[in-house]
Amino acid sequence: MRGWRLSLAVAAVAACLGGAFGWSLRDDAWAEAAVPELAALKERFRRPDAVPFPADNPWSEAKARLGRRLFFDPRLSGGGTLACAGCHDPAKGWTDGRRTGRGERGQVLARRTPHLWNLAWGEKLFWDGRADSLEHQSTMPIDSPDEMDRRIGDLVAWLNADADYTAAFAAAFPGTSAVSARLLAQALATYERTLVSPVTAFDRWIAGDDSAISDAATRGFRLFSGKANCVACHSGWAFTDQAFHDIGLPGADRGRGAVLDLRAADHAFKTPGLRDVARRAPYMHNGSIATLDAVLAHYETGIVERPTLSRDLKRIALGDGERRDLIAFLETLSAPGPVETEPRVRPAPAAAQPPLAETRVVAQREKQFLPRAIQIAKGETVIVRNNDSRTHNVRVFDPKLEFDSGAQEPGETVRITFPAAGRYTVFCGIHPAMKLAVEVAE
Ligand code: HEC
Ligand code: HEC
Repeated sequence: MRGWRLSLAVAAVAACLGGAFGWSLRDDAWAEAAVPELAALKERFRRPDAVPFPADNPWSEAKARLGRRLFFDPRLSGGGTLACAGCHDPAKGWTDGRRTGRGERGQVLARRTPHLWNLAWGEKLFWDGRADSLEHQSTMPIDSPDEMDRRIGDLVAWLNADADYTAAFAAAFPGTSAVSARLLAQALATYERTLVSPVTAFDRWIAGDDSAISDAATRGFRLFSGKANCVACHSGWAFTDQAFHDIGLPGADRGRGAVLDLRAADHAFKTPGLRDVARRAPYMHNGSIATLDAVLAHYETGIVERPTLSRDLKRIALGDGERRDLIAFLETLSAPGPVETEPRVRPAPAAAQPPLAETRVVAQREKQFLPRAIQIAKGETVIVRNNDSRTHNVRVFDPKLEFDSGAQEPGETVRITFPAAGRYTVFCGIHPAMKLAVEVAE
């Protein structure tokens, strides 16, 4: 402990003096000083060892196997030729390699096919977040006339007439007598939750193997989480904050703004997780950027000025060597070899609920509500104050209470009165990982 504290102090003094007198700090002195700081940083990227499943659709191997079979079966589509995997191809990092998706009859879709890695940890689905869960999402591409174009009622009738499928559904859902749209959605969602990005060189480095990635990639990681500011949005082991940002890409698509009916969220799209990113060009919701080099060029010089630009977006300038280092780092997020498509995961035990605080005053800071769970009495008003540097959109969707704050700018306060007893979830429409549990007593 003492040793690094001392060297940190020395490094800090040297850095100050260096700044004042134009000295440069010796590399090894910096490396030594940075060890504890780097260790803390690396901890934020450590991968979980078990996968969360929701209480209303828990893990079962039979369900996941059935989901896999459905996912790869082209007979689910209207013309019998396009499976989910026809667009979300495991060999292409669960995308299709195209600029934007293609429907069964060649229809050109408006947006690019996203990858499906690590959605078990996700919040809202689609580039604009219009689906609330994998269960909610999974039948939408089947029904869509531009994609698989098959009415769900027709598909369910067909599954019920197929002896193999009825047996598989009966095994996956003991106690049920027929296939339904709900069970179809549950099986597909269970399989999708098993699509966990594989361990890569980066994970081995995080776990302590210092030689797992190159020096260039190590420098790239530092840039990613420092000067280049990527980590402001691509945070955590899956490299996404699950939030919606306008990063200044040209185009008329309103994205999240149209879903929330909120101008402040116009041109905002979900931060894609960056696992396996080097293998799935082209990039962005509209496939408009062809290479990782061009992605960096966008963040450096391509940003379109707009009032809706994310507050997390900073102007950056990189040297040629820095660009190479950043890309060397991004390449460590892919594993060589074929993609595992068999459902092999360890389900996580149910997560503990945060303790309930007895307060009516809640802060918003760093894309979190503080505290995260509160207890109040019926008829009381909760005061939510935006102490964050970002615009928020406080929402409640509940049969007993619908609430939409509109754009809540930094410094602004939102008041929500809870008229009936029960448990509510307050969330941010722009940063949906921000959740506040409110327990309202009689
Ligand atoms: C025609 C190509 C195509 C087919 C077939 C297809 N998808 Fe997609 N998928 C897309 C596109 C394009 C999007 C993005 C649409 C958007 O965001 O507006 C998408 C989005 C998704 C997402 C959201 C991912 C995220 O990060 O938010 C999931 C999950 C998904 N699809 C699962 C499926 C499943 C399950 C099936 C089969 C039932 C399927 N898809 C069939 C093209 C396709
Ligand atoms: C303000 C938040 C934010 C910051 C900062 C940010 N990104 Fe992004 N990134 C996003 C969002 C949102 C998208 C999707 C945008 C879209 O499609 O409209 C994205 C897309 C990408 C993609 C394309 C991934 C794919 O699958 O299409 C890459 C690669 C990427 N970012 C890398 C970086 C790097 C490298 C940095 C740092 C230089 C960075 N990002 C900084 C939010 C951010």
